[in-house]
Amino acid sequence: MSRRLRMGMVGGGAGAFIGAVHRHAAALDGQIDLVAGALSSTPEKARASGRALGLPEDRTYGSWEEMLERELSREDRIDFVSVVTPNHMHYPVARAFAAAGIHVISDKPLVTSSEQAADLMRVVAETGVVFAVTYNYTGYPMVRQARQMVRSGQLGELRKVTVEYHQGWLAEEQDEATNKQAGWRTDPARSGLGGAIGDIGSHAENLISTVTGLELEAVCADLTAFVPGRRLDDDASVLLRFRGGARGLLTVSQVEIGAENDLRLRVHGTRGSLLWRQEDPNHLTYDTLGGPRQVLTRGGPGLSEEAQRATRLPAGHPEGFLEAFANVYLGAAAHIRAGLEGQGHTPDYPTVEDGARGVHFIERVVESSRGGEKWTDAVWTGGQGQMATTRQE
Ligand SMILES: NC(=O)c1ccc[n+]([C@@H]2O[C@H](COP(=O)([O-])OP(=O)(O)OC[C@H]3O[C@@H](n4cnc5c(N)ncnc54)[C@H](O)[C@@H]3O)[C@@H](O)[C@H]2O)c1
Repeated sequence: MSRRLRMGMVGGGAGAFIGAVHRHAAALDGQIDLVAGALSSTPEKARASGRALGLPEDRTYGSWEEMLERELSREDRIDFVSVVTPNHMHYPVARAFAAAGIHVISDKPLVTSSEQAADLMRVVAETGVVFAVTYNYTGYPMVRQARQMVRSGQLGELRKVTVEYHQGWLAEEQDEATNKQAGWRTDPARSGLGGAIGDIGSHAENLISTVTGLELEAVCADLTAFVPGRRLDDDASVLLRFRGGARGLLTVSQVEIGAENDLRLRVHGTRGSLLWRQEDPNHLTYDTLGGPRQVLTRGGPGLSEEAQRATRLPAGHPEGFLEAFANVYLGAAAHIRAGLEGQGHTPDYPTVEDGARGVHFIERVVESSRGGEKWTDAVWTGGQGQMATTRQE
């Protein structure tokens, strides 16, 4: 390894959720130092947050614009910025840093429109910066194992993919003053077009795409806002059709009382099936046609090179969310380092293109749900109505 990478952060100030996770993930493997930050939406809170983390005074910035300008004038400027703001700020921040030649690690959803996504892809292509999107579930060793098994054909031809993402923390109206995470997530101006479908549906879409490589052909979506007055969906079910004939179902919800972070992926092919659950991430269930069920364990025997590389501890010592997150950071860091050393590199992390495809997915799902015309009336009227309908036809 050459020198440690220098990281800046935008967002993730006092009281924020995912910024701290990014910091833990970046620190886990001793390759990255957080050296600068514009951590909050007001200069006072941003500076106080930087101080609380022990950032140097001259690199604790009041705004991301100030951070960009002042970092660019330093010899020891940051190598990359992590963008961990609410969704509407991803685009201006990520675009400005990428355009200035600074690598970016941004959280999902990438941006809030396809136009922004296309523009960002263009900037990334022009500047050649590394751009990673923290679809962190792709970093789990057993997800990487699933990807390797599916893509090497072990499941045969894919038939059906089901992804479920169940949460319950938005089951009732939230007061933004006491729950800032809920506040912006339920506000279209800050969240974007999607509520639950953007917040966790984006992870679900990416998980399918990462593991299977299947390309979406069409969606048929039903989005709902169950909580009265909520302006964005808090529950979504989407039928999926993939190129080549495979079918799928994506269902996500943030109003399922009792559900925590219950993300599940099932992949079924002509020769076998896989099941992976985020709340039991060290295991992968594998069934073959006519064979006994196998439960593969992280760190256990018989795993692929990809899964082994993503593993830090021996089997039986649980790894989880932070380690998976750190694997996305490791992937981006390896690419940044390869650039510093003048070497070529094949990205092994979710890229700006993955992020842009995720934004397109959210837009198509919202569009499908608004359309409504694809639904066939299925109301049971007690027999007479159905018979009458049949006769009329
Ligand atoms: N990958 C995951 O598993 C995961 C999980 C949670 C959230 N997220 C994503 O991470 C992002 C942040 O979510 P969160 O739950 O941490 O939100 P949060 O509300 O807890 O934190 C957002 C932070 O951004 C700051 N901020 C807002 N505007 C800013 C600006 N102009 N400049 C600097 N800082 C600014 C806020 O002050 C706050 O500190 C969202 O895009 C969300 O979708 C991803």
